[in-house]
Amino acid sequence: MRPDTTRAGALVLFGITGDLARKMLLPALYHLTADGRFDLPIIGVAKTDMGLDGLREFARTACGGVHDAAFDKLAGNLRLVSGDYRDPATFARLREETEGKGFLVHYLAVPPALFSAVAEGLAGEGLNRDARLVVEKPFGHDLASARELNGELLKFFDEDHLRRVDHFLGKEPVEDLMVFRFANTLLEPIWNRSHIRSVQITMAEDFDVRDRGGFYDANGTVRDVVQNHLLQLLAILAMDPPPSTDARAQLDEKWRVLRAVQAIDPADVVRGQYAGYLGTDGVRPDSTTETYVALRAYIDNWRWAGVPWCIRSGKALPVTDLEVVAELRRPPVTMFGNGRAPDAPNLIRFRLQPDAGVTFDLLAKEPGKQHTRPVPVSVDFTKVLGPMEAAYERVLSDAVSGDPRRFARFDLVEESWRIVQPVLDLAERPLPYEQGSWGPEPAAEIPPGGWHEISTTFD
Ligand code: BG6
Repeated sequence: MRPDTTRAGALVLFGITGDLARKMLLPALYHLTADGRFDLPIIGVAKTDMGLDGLREFARTACGGVHDAAFDKLAGNLRLVSGDYRDPATFARLREETEGKGFLVHYLAVPPALFSAVAEGLAGEGLNRDARLVVEKPFGHDLASARELNGELLKFFDEDHLRRVDHFLGKEPVEDLMVFRFANTLLEPIWNRSHIRSVQITMAEDFDVRDRGGFYDANGTVRDVVQNHLLQLLAILAMDPPPSTDARAQLDEKWRVLRAVQAIDPADVVRGQYAGYLGTDGVRPDSTTETYVALRAYIDNWRWAGVPWCIRSGKALPVTDLEVVAELRRPPVTMFGNGRAPDAPNLIRFRLQPDAGVTFDLLAKEPGKQHTRPVPVSVDFTKVLGPMEAAYERVLSDAVSGDPRRFARFDLVEESWRIVQPVLDLAERPLPYEQGSWGPEPAAEIPPGGWHEISTTFD
């Protein structure tokens, strides 16, 4: 079946007075409006009744207190329906408000425990017909609960009318990986087990769980970012070239590669918890939730068999950074070594955050000597190509247009839960690490030869 890409007549935003709407969705809608790319009625649904004027002020503050024509246009498009998400009367009011607006996009920026209730409430008023449902992460807590949730949602919306948000897929530098791989012919001949020794993916954050103790403690690093964001990244990096440009071909290739990833062996995992985590509001005093994980994944296919894909992520690390480093195999004969240590390997680094670009670490001869030294050859995409769109601007425009390629299709979600399930099953207490360190010491041994230092900036 062709994915539904009917453009919407209105956006229905559940949770419009919540944190995600305030921090991400409203500012993104403002930028889209200012760029002339969004001009639709936005019907906010919220438990709190702040009145339409109250909502407009809330939105103004969320957008940085702006007073301009773009904000006036956005404010003019806002409507508010308030009420409990489990009360049919809320949906009856929503039906009146959406009457005659055409195709509806229902965006659920509410806790996942409410997803099914909202879908059912919408269906009770026929608001699931001629409509698309967009849900935020996390999608499930494990494989079984993800399947259960999907089953619930499928009662009211079919897969073609469902979109599961993974905002990493909205990040331009993440999509650039695909462009780098498939628009250039440079990489493809070496992008396999014959030339690549290991791939390292680091998503580091220099802040702790902040005020999200309750959410974080119920989830942990693997559920929060590995099952979704980082396995999506792995899929983009490891997949075969899609045979055509259509969304389905791309999603199929991602599925094929995730299908080939072995479930993680617990022997290939190090979990950590930063010192002081247990004193955070909302965290259980005896919690065994991880705030750090490092793991090795293996892909059982002809391209990648035997190559470790090493992933690490954590809170309270030394920097905030998202980077991929592919280590190439060394030449079979060392002609220019310094006689003591082997030459450094060539590295291909994809920097995704905070700035974006690519660096090749090549070897050059040290002047006046007979040995080599790594020299970086870099392109800073932001400098060369200009500023990039924010992830949520792309997520929202795709939610409206219906293009499915930057959302998580359910079969991909299922594979990701299967891959991480053995890690979720680990019951041991995570190893402690100091805030501002690179995690527990044994994590250093996850990649063969250790982690490559990440390049924190281009300058
Ligand atoms: C979210 C996680 O999905 O992604 C957060 O819940 C994490 O814990 C965030 O900090 C990172 O996203 P970004 O876009 O700020 O890098």
